[in-house]
Amino acid sequence: MENISDATKHFIDLRRHMWIAGIEVDLRRLIWQIAVTGKYISSKIQESNRKLAGLENIYGEEQLALDMSSDQIIKHQLEFSGFVSHYASEERDSIIQIGGGKGKYIVTADPLDGSSLVNTNLAIGTIIAIHRESILTGGDKSLVAAMYITYGPLITMIYSAGNGTHEFVLNREGEYVLSEENITLGERGDIYSIGGLRRDWTQGHLDYIRYLESEGYKLRYSGGFVPDINQILIKKGGIFTYPTLKSHPNGKLRLIFELQPMAFLMEQAGGMATDGRQRILSIQPKALDQRCPVYIGSKYEVEKAKAFLGD
Ligand code: F6P
Repeated sequence: MENISDATKHFIDLRRHMWIAGIEVDLRRLIWQIAVTGKYISSKIQESNRKLAGLENIYGEEQLALDMSSDQIIKHQLEFSGFVSHYASEERDSIIQIGGGKGKYIVTADPLDGSSLVNTNLAIGTIIAIHRESILTGGDKSLVAAMYITYGPLITMIYSAGNGTHEFVLNREGEYVLSEENITLGERGDIYSIGGLRRDWTQGHLDYIRYLESEGYKLRYSGGFVPDINQILIKKGGIFTYPTLKSHPNGKLRLIFELQPMAFLMEQAGGMATDGRQRILSIQPKALDQRCPVYIGSKYEVEKAKAFLGD
């Protein structure tokens, strides 16, 4: 790939970046169209009157109307993209066929992850994965690209199509401009982000966290998966974990909608993602709504977790 110097990188927009990277034309058009939905979703967030919809989603969590409208925005965009045959969303209980089932890609979305944080004014995000095969064949075999959009003080978009992990910022003119190319994590970081109640952790996990604390790691946990992962990527290291809980052996986060795309982006940035033992991307999902424990971040911390959890 052509080298983009520091002096010119701010003038590189998303479409140009993907073109220079040699990403196949249909895939880069699709990534572009999905990035555009971030603008629509962010407008919805700003319009939001913060009232709860009074509905429950299929997983029984409290759901804001915003979740549903974000899902509709993405579905609508994909339907007419010409590139997508099927769509799966965390807001739906099954994979749906769209666009006459003719497109070559399958898209999964967590349309508005962390939506319950909207009324606290913390950052939230949209997580997307683009697959070529069936999404139940496993991340490694079918994932061709992943991206997320962060709605915070800035709107940023991070993508990888197997060509490294890159960050773009939405500017005032509505263009996604390159802010960081080839994000590369250090061998280790100094922050940890950790979900679940301490009394519900397993002994191995508790010992691991005590180890990180003894090493001086700083706690960074917002309760939003997107900004928490974003912090590790942008600060070039650290660990996010939502572990096995005694009460919930599979943890909380969803393998297909949340973990596979983030694992793809993290690996492309030189990091790792495991369930404590095996790579997230080598796990073959058995169900759309499958949950999975996760250790994701820079190599040192992810490998250390494995040592503490044992075989
Ligand atoms: O899966 C939804 C989600 O809100 C994630 O964005 C976040 O990482 C996690 O759940 C937070 O869970 P908890 O409220 O248990 O810390």
